[in-house]
Amino acid sequence: MGGEEKVATLDLTRMKEEGRKISMVTAYDYPSALIADKAGIDVILVGDSLGMVVLGYENTLPVTLEEVIHHAKAVTRAAKRPLIVGDMPFMTFNVNQEEAVRNAGLLFKEAGVDAVKIEGGAELKDTVSRLVGSGIAVMGHIGLTPQRISLIGGYRVQGRDAEGASRLIGDAKALEEAGVFALVLECVTSQVAELITRELSIPTIGIGAGPHCDGQVLVLHDMLGMFDRLKLRFVKRYADLNTTIEGALKSYVTEVREGDFPSEDHSFSMEEMELKKLVAMRGLESR
Ligand code: KIV
Repeated sequence: MGGEEKVATLDLTRMKEEGRKISMVTAYDYPSALIADKAGIDVILVGDSLGMVVLGYENTLPVTLEEVIHHAKAVTRAAKRPLIVGDMPFMTFNVNQEEAVRNAGLLFKEAGVDAVKIEGGAELKDTVSRLVGSGIAVMGHIGLTPQRISLIGGYRVQGRDAEGASRLIGDAKALEEAGVFALVLECVTSQVAELITRELSIPTIGIGAGPHCDGQVLVLHDMLGMFDRLKLRFVKRYADLNTTIEGALKSYVTEVREGDFPSEDHSFSMEEMELKKLVAMRGLESR
């Protein structure tokens, strides 16, 4: 909980070893990161999902490094106990290893994150090694990788057949060998997630990957009912904030229109004597 010691990457490994589940959620701003910290969340991800859920992009591809840094700065100002992971946007780590190191370094230096996350499998082995070799903690992300939407052709469950599942296991092992400290499994079958979780000594964090992962992550706006453009079966709604917020705003509109807000309770007044003095000073008409 807030005030406790900062979560480190090694704490997550220990949690796996001790069978304690890891809670992770996305956050993109100061108030939600404060609440996540207070609620006892272990890991906050400043995900590139911010492009869709707070910036209104069609998908995550347009998200820039500057946008992630901007939001991550607000999160690191707020959350003190959780490990804070910054997502590396599309094409900020794919062009070459030097750029990957430079961009990940900017997330550390400018936003103060504790780790970066990159989407992709075994093809990123060398990039991960290079990042880790440069002192950058890396979280992997395989399965449904939204940055590859043009290749995978839609938001689909991954690893349903033996070949696909075997590829995922190969990716997971390659990334562990390369040095990732944890691995997000997005939208993969429970059986494959369980196999990968058993095979790896680093923790797996599932999203739409069943109950056997070492931890779970959800997008904050999905779980709080603030984003419903994508209907995702794996999302559990813990609140319906869209309805709550809309209801509150409608009440506000009505009260403003009808003159019920602000009442005396929400207003300031000056002393009667001072008011009389003012009226006399300015030759105003008294009430
Ligand atoms: O960007 C994001 O929010 C993510 C999570 C879905 C893991 O990558």
